[in-house]
Amino acid sequence: MKERLLELQKEALEKLEQTKLMKDIQAIRVEYLGKKGPITDVMKQMGKIPKEERPIIGQVANEVRNAIAQKVEEKWKELEVLEVEMKLKAETIDVTLPGRPVQQGNFHPLTAVVEEIEDLFIGMGYEVAEGPEVEQDHYNFEALNLPKDHPARDMQDSFYITKELLMRTHTSPVQARTMEKHNGVGPVRIICPGKVYRRDTDDATHSHQFTQIEGLVVDKNIRMSDLKGTLDVFAKKMFGEDREIRLRPSFFPFTEPSVEMDISCFHCGGDGCHVCKGSGWIEVLGGGMVHPNVLKMAGFDPNEYSGFAFGMGQERIAMLKYGIHDIRHFYTNDIRFLKQFKRA
Ligand code: PHE
Repeated sequence: MKERLLELQKEALEKLEQTKLMKDIQAIRVEYLGKKGPITDVMKQMGKIPKEERPIIGQVANEVRNAIAQKVEEKWKELEVLEVEMKLKAETIDVTLPGRPVQQGNFHPLTAVVEEIEDLFIGMGYEVAEGPEVEQDHYNFEALNLPKDHPARDMQDSFYITKELLMRTHTSPVQARTMEKHNGVGPVRIICPGKVYRRDTDDATHSHQFTQIEGLVVDKNIRMSDLKGTLDVFAKKMFGEDREIRLRPSFFPFTEPSVEMDISCFHCGGDGCHVCKGSGWIEVLGGGMVHPNVLKMAGFDPNEYSGFAFGMGQERIAMLKYGIHDIRHFYTNDIRFLKQFKRA
C-alpha cells in the first residue's frame, strides 16, 4: 500500500512537472486529490491492513497529499508568472515605430485669397458684410440704378427664379442692403465676399457660378483719390510692392465716374510678355464713385455723403496670383491641384 501511494505521488509530480497550462494543473489536482481519486481509493482500503500499520500508512498518505498539493501550488505560481510574461510580450508596443502621418488639409486657393483680402481691409477699418445669394431684383438691379429694361442689365446675364427673384449676379446688392441699414448715417466701410451666378457657358475663363469680393466706403468727403489710394495699397499687398496701378474710364450704372483698374504686369514688370499679352498691364477689377442715385435710394443724402466702391472676381485674383490657367480647377476639387496652395 505504501508503495502504491508513493507510486501515485511520483506519477502526479511528474505530470505536474510537465504541464504548461494552468487548466491542466487544475485537472491534475482534481484527478489525484479529489474525492474520486486514487489516493482516496487507497485510503478506503485501510480496513484491510493490520491495525499497527494503519498510522504509518495514514502518515504516508498525508505526506503524499501534501507533496502533491505543494507541487500544485508551486507550479500554479510559476505558470501564473509565465502567463503574465507571455501576455505582456504579446501586447508589447514598439514605441520607436514612426507614426502614420496624418494627411494635413490646407485652404482652398479661393479661401486663401479671400481671407488675405479680408485681413487687409479689416486692417484698414472695414467690416465684412454678407447678403443672400437668392436676391431680390430690387437689390441686385433697381437699387443699383438699373431700372427694369435698362440695357445695362444685359452686362450680367441672370438666372431668374421668379420675376422678382434671381440668383445674384454680383456682390453689389450687399452695398445697397448695408447702406439701407445705416439709415442715411455714415460712415460705411464694408468688404463683401460671396458667390455670384451668371448665365455663362463654362470655359477656361468663365463659370456660371463664381465668387466676387466687393468693397464700399460711404462717408463725408470721400473722393476719387481715396479710391485710388486704397486700390494702390491693395495691388501692392496682393501682387508685390513694385506694382503700379492705372485707372481707365469705364461704365457701371451704379458708379459715376466708373473705372477699370489695371496693375503693372508682375511677370515682366511692364515691358510686355505673354501674361499681360504684350501690354505691360493686367486688368484686375472694376470700381468707381457711388452714383448719387444709389446713395439716394439707400437713404443717404448725396449732397452730404459720397462714396466709392469696387468689385472683383476672387477667381481672377487667385488665377493671376498663382498662375492658374483654367477657372474650372477651382471647382473640380482635384486633390493634386488643391494641395499646391498654402495660405500666405
Ligand atoms: N458689380 C460689378 C461687376 O460685377 C463690379 C463693381 C463693383 C463695379 C462695385 C463697380 C463698383 O462687374
